[in-house]
Amino acid sequence: MTKTFFIETWGCQMNDLDSQRLSGSLKLRGYQRVENESAADLILLNTCSIRDKSEQKVFSHLGRLREMKAAREDLRIGVCGCVAQQEGEAILHRAPWVDFVMGPGNVGHIDQILAGERRVAIDFPEDRNYDYLTVDRPSATKAQVTIIEGCNKNCTFCIVPTTRGREVSRPFDDVLREVRAAVDSGRVEIELLGQTVNAYRCPVSGRDFGALLGAVAEVDRVARLRFMTSHPAEVSDSMIAAMRDHENISRYLHLPVQSGSSRVLRRMKRLYTREHYLDTIARIRAAIPEIQFSTDVIVGFPGETEEDFEQTISLMTEVGYGSLFAFKYSPRPGTPALKLGAPVDDDVASERLNRLFDLHEQFKREHLGSYRGRILPVLVEGPSKHDPSMLTGRTDDNVVVNFSGDPSTRPGSMLGVRIEQAQHHTLRGEAVA
Ligand code: 5AD
Repeated sequence: MTKTFFIETWGCQMNDLDSQRLSGSLKLRGYQRVENESAADLILLNTCSIRDKSEQKVFSHLGRLREMKAAREDLRIGVCGCVAQQEGEAILHRAPWVDFVMGPGNVGHIDQILAGERRVAIDFPEDRNYDYLTVDRPSATKAQVTIIEGCNKNCTFCIVPTTRGREVSRPFDDVLREVRAAVDSGRVEIELLGQTVNAYRCPVSGRDFGALLGAVAEVDRVARLRFMTSHPAEVSDSMIAAMRDHENISRYLHLPVQSGSSRVLRRMKRLYTREHYLDTIARIRAAIPEIQFSTDVIVGFPGETEEDFEQTISLMTEVGYGSLFAFKYSPRPGTPALKLGAPVDDDVASERLNRLFDLHEQFKREHLGSYRGRILPVLVEGPSKHDPSMLTGRTDDNVVVNFSGDPSTRPGSMLGVRIEQAQHHTLRGEAVA
């Protein structure tokens, strides 16, 4: 009988892609994917540990699986991803009904683990299998492609260097081969991924991120090219030039600032000051005037004063982000920030977070509102889920647009859509000839 598997995924795009890779390898081995846990012979939890809350979700989920495992001896449960990497063997003590623990470095080695060769696989093998042809991509129009794994930045708040290891870039030609294969399968939107995507450097030729961006943008039929996540200190002239010179590279850049105060940035070890960050924004805008930015902010970092926070608010207004992702600081095991004193009082941090969210609402409204009446290029994904008589797609800055148009439009086409209405997080419109 065919074996079945279920994957639950938390966290970032890298984790999404790791799940697509796991799913692809399992299908290749004859497993069938199910969307209902109780119908699965194998349950994989692909976990996130960026903040404590994300980690708690994993353990509460594991708690619920305990009975299921007691009732079905043949059920196998695997914990993958960043909590697996961080906690390792400890997971087996805390939840002995877990069968194996596998970190992000071992996604390409699921075979060995299923064969029972290892129960705890949390190393970062030199040779990391990456079988891009088997990735189980959920979208018919979009492919995510890893170009660099890990992070060498060591920001004092961040667990990623522990959970995803040191930076390893993939060879330039490997990336191009994967992109061509993705386009051949109809995925005309490409998203290049890395925790610090713009630190990319080809291990064979030394070519940098700007060179790679340009080369991917020039692959035949790539309609739209995005990348996540850029580090402000790694924004090079070659990256800016590649964006300027290729219209199919999204005019939307996620550039996490974390704080608007140089004092806090130094304590976070972000490797830039407020002035340097603003200067980077200005350099990019000078080359690409229509560019939009989004950002991440941490509030309540140890030692953050009201004055520091007001500098964050003023930076938000100065840059004018199209969207903002803000989080309360969460102490992570083994990170250097633990030695920087107690986090800001929780009530104060919540209040700061709310002020940021209010600002974000206002940005978002203004940003989406400014689209009304304009004709925007939309990459069509297919019929709308909520109303199959409508089509759905995304703008260059990744906003969902539901619109009326020819129902026989091929997914992956680029259409001009006149925007009629801005809703909370989406747009409505009508295709124009
Ligand atoms: N606490 C709160 N937020 C964090 N982030 C990373 N580490 C932490 C932490 N310890 C946020 C940063 C990062 C985003 C992905 O998550 O803003 O850019």
